[in-house]
Amino acid sequence: MSLSVIILAAGLGKRMRSDKPKVLHEVLGRPMLQHVIDAVKPLKPSKVVVVIGNGADAVKKQINEKGISFVLQKKLLGTGDAVLTARNHIRSGAILVINGDGPLITTKTLKGFLTKHRRHKNIVSFLSFLNDSLAGYGRVFRDKSGKVTGIVEDKHASPEERAKFNELNSGIYIIEKAALRYLSEIKKNSSSGEYYLTDIVDLAASAGKKVNTYLCPQEETRGVNSRRELFEISNIMRDKIISKWLDKGVTFIDPATTVIHSSVSIGKDTIIYPNTYLEGSTSIGRNCIIYPGSRICDSSLGDNVIVKDSTLIESSLIGKGASIGPFAHLRPESDIGRNAKVGNFVEIKKSRLEEGVKASHLSYLGDAEIGKDVNIGAGTITCNYDGKNKFKTKIEAGVFIGSDSQLVAPVTIGKGAYVAAGATITKNVPSGALAISRNRQKNLDSWVSNNKSKSRKKGK
Ligand code: UD1
Ligand code: CA
Repeated sequence: MSLSVIILAAGLGKRMRSDKPKVLHEVLGRPMLQHVIDAVKPLKPSKVVVVIGNGADAVKKQINEKGISFVLQKKLLGTGDAVLTARNHIRSGAILVINGDGPLITTKTLKGFLTKHRRHKNIVSFLSFLNDSLAGYGRVFRDKSGKVTGIVEDKHASPEERAKFNELNSGIYIIEKAALRYLSEIKKNSSSGEYYLTDIVDLAASAGKKVNTYLCPQEETRGVNSRRELFEISNIMRDKIISKWLDKGVTFIDPATTVIHSSVSIGKDTIIYPNTYLEGSTSIGRNCIIYPGSRICDSSLGDNVIVKDSTLIESSLIGKGASIGPFAHLRPESDIGRNAKVGNFVEIKKSRLEEGVKASHLSYLGDAEIGKDVNIGAGTITCNYDGKNKFKTKIEAGVFIGSDSQLVAPVTIGKGAYVAAGATITKNVPSGALAISRNRQKNLDSWVSNNKSKSRKKGK
C-alpha cells in the first residue's frame, strides 16, 4: 500500500512578524518543518513533497535532505491550492497531508492514524482534538447523528457555532488520491479570498463518501502562528523531552530552566543543574554532573564527567572522569582524555589532551597534541598563529610547563621535559631537558632607602 506525503509550508506566516519563513523558525534548535519531516520519514513514504512559496530559496537551502522534493506554489491562494500544486507529483494511494507549522506531531500518532484510516476504508480522514479555549483553528461541524459535515474556520464561525462545536482541526489529513478531484471543486472563500483544503471534508461527505476524524493527543496537534505559540510549543516539547529523561533516571534540579534538544542522549544518574543547554547531537554519559549555566553542543561526554559552572563545549569529545570548567571554553575538535582536568578560564581548540593532563587555569591551547599526565601551568599559551598560518604544538608525555609560558609553534617539547615559568619557547626542547628563557634576576640592595635619601638631598 503506497503512501505519499505532502507538507504544506508555503504560507507567509504573517502573524510571526518575521523576515524569515515561518516553517524555518526553530523549536529547540530545529526548524519546525524539519520536526515535521522527522516525524513523517519513519512511515517510509514513497514520496515526500514539500510545498514552498514564501522564502522558498531559504527553505530549500536549509532543509537539504535526500528523498524530499519541493514544489513551488506561485501565489499563496490557501491550503487547498497548495495541495493542488503538489497533486501532479503524487501517483496513487493514500496521501498524508500535513501542515509544516505543527512540529509536535509524533510518528507514533501518525502510524496509528494511518492504520485507522486504512482499516475504516475512508476516503478522507483527519486528526482533531477537543478544546474550549484555543482560537484560530478550524472547527469540526457534525450533524445531529454525529456525522462529520465539514470544517469551518474559527473566524468564519458564529458565536453560537463556536459554543456548540469544540472539536478542532489539527491540520493533518489522509486523503486517498481518488478524492483529490474534490480539490478542483473547492470555491474561493469570499471573505479571505483563499481556497481552503478543509472544504474537501464537506465536499466528500456531501458526495456520500466515507469521511472520519480521529482524536489525537492535544499537545501534538498545536500549530505555530505567532511568536507566543512558538514559545508555548517549545515549552511543550521541552517538558516532554525532560520527562522522558526523568523516567530514564536523570536528575534535573530545575527543569523549567533546562533545555535539552530531542537528539540528545543522557546516561542514568547524571545530575543536571539549572540553566543547562544540551544541544544538537550531544551525548552525556552516566553519572555525570553538569553544574549551572553550561551549554554543550554536538559533543560527547563519557561517564563520570564533571562540567563546572558556566562552561561552553562545542563539537568536542570528553573522556571518562574528566573535569571541565568553571568558565572553560572547548571549541570544536577538542578531544579531552580520561581524568583530564581543564579548569578556570581555559580555552581549547582543535587539540588532543591525553589521559590525566591538567590545564587548571587561564590558558589557550590551540592545534596542540598534549601527552599523558602533562601539567600545563597557569597562563600557558600556545602561539599557534603567525597572522597567516596555523602551526602545531606537540607536548610529549610527562612534561611540566611552568606558569606564564608561551610556546611558539611549530614546536615540540620532548618527553618528561620541564619548561621554567615565564618562558618563551621558540625552539624544540629535548626530552628530559629544562628550558629556561628569561633574564637572571638581579637584586639591588637597599635601592629603596638610597633612592629616598637622594630625593631628600635634592630638596624634593
Ligand atoms: C489551518 C486550517 C485549520 C486548522 C489549522 C491547524 C485551513 C483553511 N485551515 O489553519 O482548519 O485548524 O491549520 O493548525 O487549512 N500554506 C501553504 N499555502 C498557502 C497557505 C498556507 O502552503 O497558500 C501552509 C502554511 O505554510 C502552513 C499550513 O499551510 O504550514 C497552514 O496554513 P495556516 O495559514 O497556518 O493555516 P491556519 O490558519 O493555521
Ligand atoms: Ca497554522
